[in-house]
Formats: sequence, structure tokens, C-alpha cells
Amino acid sequence: MKYNIDQIKENALQELESADSKKSLESLFVKYLGRKGRVTQFLRNISNLPPGERPEAGKKANLAKKSLDAAFQKKRRDIESKALQTEDRIDVSLPGRSPATGSLHPITRITDRICDIFVRFGFDIAEGPEVETDYYNFEALNIQKNHPARDMQDTFYISDNIVLRTHTSPIQVRIMEQQAPPVRIIAPGKVYRCDSDLTHTPMFHQVEGLMVDKKATFGDLKGMLTLFIHQIFDDKISLRFRPSFFPFTEPSAEVDILCVICRGKGCRVCSGTGWLEVLGCGMVHPAVFENAGYDTDLYKGFAFGMGIERIAMLKYRIDDIRKYFENDLRFLRQF
Ligand code: PHE
Repeated sequence: MKYNIDQIKENALQELESADSKKSLESLFVKYLGRKGRVTQFLRNISNLPPGERPEAGKKANLAKKSLDAAFQKKRRDIESKALQTEDRIDVSLPGRSPATGSLHPITRITDRICDIFVRFGFDIAEGPEVETDYYNFEALNIQKNHPARDMQDTFYISDNIVLRTHTSPIQVRIMEQQAPPVRIIAPGKVYRCDSDLTHTPMFHQVEGLMVDKKATFGDLKGMLTLFIHQIFDDKISLRFRPSFFPFTEPSAEVDILCVICRGKGCRVCSGTGWLEVLGCGMVHPAVFENAGYDTDLYKGFAFGMGIERIAMLKYRIDDIRKYFENDLRFLRQF
């Protein structure tokens, strides 16, 4: 018994030596000085000793407990002051840590930029449904059932008469049905085509523009789109209007800019032509006006449509459209 309390104290001091965290210190405290700890237990057992041994054992045990209490207290202070010097210390001279903030997706930025430019030209923003009827997506735009132009747009059919819109042009008709001229709208949104490679994704974005007035001319169209291209790219970029065909415009044109990579010499990006196609446009076809209930003698109009990813790819020189939709933050943070 005499040796026992000395042994317990000895062991406790030895273990205390190697305790290096608050946590290990606390579990040691429980082991020796807690309610069921070895020292506590020893003190409790004294009453079971033969009466002659009790006073000495009691004295020894109390001394041991006192010195252990002191040793624990000292160790606790040591550990706390060490912690203050390391992880828990606050250095008030350090610059603050700014919280991570999100930012707009490059496609959203370009969409906003395109809309801003046209809003300054007096255009209103319009919208239409992404699940569209065959009528608005094709028929009303002068694209009849067996028209070969339907093949130009690999369509996702929901049912015989319901499609995922293949372009934003149906919004033209919806707006004209609701609103009398003059009309100036710009309509951004998602469109869908069954197509997938380096420059095509099944979902992408377009912006549609429509202007109808008593005197809207092809000259107005050219002037406005030239101004737009200069504002979205840069005001020195060369562009051209190349005759083209769309069933819903007549005459129709496509706008090309001088290749941003080779400056017209011909390279892989522009397939050797020196030019890059950026948008489709033209004077609204009389058949479209008639479908929307507009008087074709009184009103003239022009429309244009462009792929937003394409504009963004040319502006930021990105060669793979899929990068926009992979949500790789290393890519997205660059904008
Ligand atoms: N809707 C056409 C397309 O998706 C673009 C366009 C819009 C062309 C308006 C002319 C007028 O290719």
C-alpha cells in the first residue's frame, strides 16, 4: 500500500511529461484525479485499511494528490501559452482574408453586353418560351412542313407539333401578335439543336433583334449592325454583309468579321477564308408580317439573330464551345 500511492504518482508524473495538448491533458486528469481516477480511488480505499495504517497512508495520499494537482496546473498553463504562440494567436497586423465571391458566367456577361448596346438604341428586352409549337418555330416564319430549311436546324421534337425552339426567331412573331408597330425588341434565350462537336452544343444561346416601323430600311439594318459589331468587338474591325438566305427574311445577309486570328490571310479558324460569320439578318419577309397580322404596305422591318457562344468564342478566342458548360472554375475565373 505504501508503495502503491508512490507508484501511482510516479506514473502520473511520467505520463504528464509527454502530454502535449489540452485533450491529452484532460484525459490524464480523468485517469488520475477524476471521480474514478486512481488517486481518488486510493483515497477512498483508506477507510478499508487496518486502523494503524490509516493516518500515514492518508497523509501520503493527500500529499501526492496536492503535488499532482500542482503539476497538472502547471502543465495546463504551459500548453495554453504554447497554443497562444502558435495556432490560436491573432495577428492584428495581417491583411484581412476576403471571402470568395461568385461572378457572372461569360455567356451571361456577353448577353448583358449585347442587350445593353441595343437598349441604348431604344430596344426593349423580350422573351419567349423554350418549348415552342411547330407553328411559331417554323410555320409562321415561312418555313413550311417539307421545306429543306428545316434540315438546317436539327430539331428536338417533343411531339408532332411541339419542339424545343431551334432559334429565337419565334419570339418575333409572338411579339408582333401582341403589339402594334413600331417595334424594337431584343430577345435573348436558350435554343436547342441536335448537334454536338467543337463548335456546337445541343443547347446554346441566341439573341434575336426585330425592328418594325414605317420606314425601316436595309440601310438602317446595316448601320445599326455595323455600330453594334464595332461596340462588341472593337471599332476598327472590318466587317462585310454577305448575301444569304433565310425563309423569314428577304433580302437576307450574313455578317462576317475579318478573322480575329489571321487578320484575313486565311487560317484554320476561318477555314482559310479570312472571314468569320457572326450573325444572320435581313428584311422581314412579307409572309411573316401577314402571319402576324401586320399591314405589309404600311410597314417595313428588319431582323437579326446571333449565337452568343459564337460571339463569346470570337471575342475571347476560345476554340472549344464545351468549355462554357463544363463549370471548370479555372476556366470561368478568367472572365
Ligand atoms: N434564326 C436564324 C438562325 O438561327 C438567324 C436569323 C434571325 C436570321 C433573324 C435572319 C433574321 O440561324
